[in-house]
Amino acid sequence: MLAAYASAINPEDPLAGLTVGERPEPEPTDNWVTVDVRATALNHHDLWSLRGVGLPAERLPMILGCDAAGIDPDGNEVLVHAVIGSDDWSGDETLDPKRTLLSERHQGTLAERVMVPRRNLVPKPAQLSFEQAACLPTAWLTAYRMLFTRGGLTPGQTVLVQGSSGGVATALIKLASSAGIRVWTTGRSEEKRALAVALGADQAFEPGARLPERVDAVMETVGAATWSHSVKSLKQGGVIVISGATSGDAPPAELTRIFFLQLSVVGSTMGTRDELERLLRLMVERQIEPVISETLPLSEARAGFEAMASGNTGGKIVFTV
Ligand SMILES: NC(=O)c1ccc[n+]([C@@H]2O[C@H](COP(=O)([O-])OP(=O)(O)OC[C@H]3O[C@@H](n4cnc5c(N)ncnc54)[C@H](OP(=O)(O)O)[C@@H]3O)[C@@H](O)[C@H]2O)c1
Repeated sequence: MLAAYASAINPEDPLAGLTVGERPEPEPTDNWVTVDVRATALNHHDLWSLRGVGLPAERLPMILGCDAAGIDPDGNEVLVHAVIGSDDWSGDETLDPKRTLLSERHQGTLAERVMVPRRNLVPKPAQLSFEQAACLPTAWLTAYRMLFTRGGLTPGQTVLVQGSSGGVATALIKLASSAGIRVWTTGRSEEKRALAVALGADQAFEPGARLPERVDAVMETVGAATWSHSVKSLKQGGVIVISGATSGDAPPAELTRIFFLQLSVVGSTMGTRDELERLLRLMVERQIEPVISETLPLSEARAGFEAMASGNTGGKIVFTV
């Protein structure tokens, strides 16, 4: 079957290890089912994997991808929940020390077919296309958990979203503005800032800009390039929720400001199956559509990877199968 997979690890030039070509069909395993993938989406996680972050060379070749929407063996339209917990774990699977994401230990979703535990199937709402549904299990689920579960944001508060055009950033902007939260964001170009405002941000600023007032919460995925600005933008007692460090993870820690203003730094990773179901209900009831910048056939996956690696994003990059 056709797949986009990591055939080598290259920390400096991740695309050097990307191959789009034939891989063996999934082998049947007890309590796992094969999904015929109709659409799948790219995440920055796939670039990290090609750099060897979370994917050691001995596990290669590894099909990339965490997101999929397709058809299960019974003919149902489904989404795939990408967090694979251990069989004996109960409760929040993101807290399972042995949990992995698809494409870390088990073959991923950028393929014609993917095999997942049956419990990881979630019914696809008819109102969402396969392409839209494929955007949700990683970037949108992460954004949902950051805002509402880990950030505890409520209507009327103000949030700063660092970055405005990425998969998680566009999800944060749309979900927060739909929930009645005032959204400020930073974007690296005029075009990206205009996109953010079109998606529902109240104002978009240049990176590092002084804000009109301090905010209740900051949503961080950028890391080193924005961390100091995030800490300095918070009100006393405010919270930074962090789920990524795209630009690096060694910024000045700003420890003095963190303790003096009694700020909270909260980590967040993916989300639970239950949160994914709640996200789906919210999307359908509020008619929120994921932001898709580009839809390509899986055979042209390399072009999507190149766009993401060069920072040329405007929402999710989706591959159809
Ligand atoms: N912990 C988790 O479970 C989880 C889940 C999803 C994602 N993540 C992480 O979150 C990050 C974003 O993921 P994504 O899929 O949304 O990636 P993406 O689509 O490639 O988006 C990258 C984002 O980074 C922003 N950015 C700002 N300054 C940057 C800089 N100096 N260098 C690079 N990027 C910069 C971009 O903002 P502009 O609009 O200004 O370009 C853009 O919004 C990644 O590190 C990813 O691994 C973690």
